[in-house]
Amino acid sequence: MKALVIKQPGKAEITSVAEPVADENMVLLKVRMVGFCGSDLNTFCGKNPMVSYPRILGHEVSATIVESSRLDPNLVAGVDVTLSPYTSCGTCAACLRGRPNACKFNETLGVQRDGALAEYIRVPPEKLYRAKLSLTELCLVEPLTVGFHAVARGRVSASDTVAIFGCGGVGLGAIAASSFRGAKTIALDVATEKLATARAAGAAQTINTTREPLHTRLAELTDGRGPDVVIEAIGLPETFRAAVEEVSFTGRVVYIGYAKEPVAYETKLFVQKELDILGSRNALPEGFRAVIQMFEEGRFPAKDAISSIIPLEDAPEALRAWSDDPSRVKKIMVRLD
Ligand SMILES: NC(=O)c1ccc[n+]([C@@H]2O[C@H](COP(=O)([O-])OP(=O)(O)OC[C@H]3O[C@@H](n4cnc5c(N)ncnc54)[C@H](O)[C@@H]3O)[C@@H](O)[C@H]2O)c1
Ligand SMILES: [Zn+2]
Ligand SMILES: [Zn+2]
Repeated sequence: MKALVIKQPGKAEITSVAEPVADENMVLLKVRMVGFCGSDLNTFCGKNPMVSYPRILGHEVSATIVESSRLDPNLVAGVDVTLSPYTSCGTCAACLRGRPNACKFNETLGVQRDGALAEYIRVPPEKLYRAKLSLTELCLVEPLTVGFHAVARGRVSASDTVAIFGCGGVGLGAIAASSFRGAKTIALDVATEKLATARAAGAAQTINTTREPLHTRLAELTDGRGPDVVIEAIGLPETFRAAVEEVSFTGRVVYIGYAKEPVAYETKLFVQKELDILGSRNALPEGFRAVIQMFEEGRFPAKDAISSIIPLEDAPEALRAWSDDPSRVKKIMVRLD
C-alpha cells in the first residue's frame, strides 16, 4: 500500500509499505482523510525532537472500519470513525493520577511511531470514536480536543475573560471551548484571515498583533485588569512571556505551545501576581466526546478552518510549499481515496 514517509528532514516521499494484517484485538481501518498540523510541519523540517526518521506522518484521522470488531459491537464494517492517536502505559505517575493524556511514555501516531498517512492502519478499538460527521469534521476532532483540554485545565467559567494566543488548529479548539463555557473570549494572531475564523469559532473580540498594541487592547477589553486566563497556543518565547505579563493578578496561564528554545522570564510576576501556571498536553476521552458533540450541533465552522484538500500524491509538494511560508496555511487535509 502507499504511505507518506518522511525519509529525513526535508525529504517526503510516497512509498510502498506492507499492509497491516487484521488481528482480533485491533480494528483494521481504511484511511479516508488526514489533517496536517504544526507538529507535522516540524517533523518535516527536522524540528520535532520526539521524532526519528524514517517516519510515516498522520495523527488527525478520518477512516472507515474494514472489518467489524469482535470486542465492540458499535464498531461495525462500513462505519466512519476518528481516533485518539495517543497511547498510555498505565503505570507512570501521570497514568496513576488518572491523567493518561500526559503519560510519560506516550507514543503519538506519526510522532514516536508510524502514523495514519497510509491506505490502511490497525488501531485498538478503545481508541476509536464513531460519529456521523463529514470526513473533514472527523479529521478536525483531534486538533480541537487539544484546545478543549487546555480550557478544562484553565478551569474556564462564564465569569472569565479568556485571551487565546494563536488561532491555528489548536488555538481554534480553545476558542470554541472557551466561548462554549460562556467566557468572554479574545483571540489574537498575526494573520487577519485566522482572526476571521476565530470569530466564526466563537471569539467575541480579536487582536491582530502586527497592527494593534497587545497590552493596550487587552487592558481596554478587561477594564485595565488583564484577562483572567491566558492560553498560549503558538510556542514562541515572546508569547510565552507575554502570557504572564498580560494575565491578571491571581490569573491562570495555560501553555499548549511547544517553545523550540529556552524562554527567559521575569519570575517576580509569578509570585507577585500569585499565578497558576499550567501545562496542557494532548486530550482525554471526554474532550473527544465534547468536540464530536460540538460538530453534531453544528457549532464549529469546519469549512473556514481548512485551507486545502489535496490527494496523497500532492502531499510531499504541499509540505515543501508550507515550510516556505508557514503563516499562509490554515489546515491542509490529505485525501486517501
Ligand atoms: N500541548 C499539546 O498537546 C500540543 C498539541 C499539538 C500542538 N501543540 C503546539 O501548539 C502550538 C500551536 O499548534 P498549531 O497546530 O495550532 O499551530 P499553527 O501553526 O497552526 O498555529 C499557530 C498560530 O500562531 C500564529 N502566530 C505565529 N506567530 C505569532 C505571533 N508572534 N503572535 C501571534 N500569533 C502568532 C500563526 O499565525 C498561527 O495561526 C505549537 O507550538 C504546537 O507545537 C501542542
Ligand atoms: Zn495535530
Ligand atoms: Zn503512563
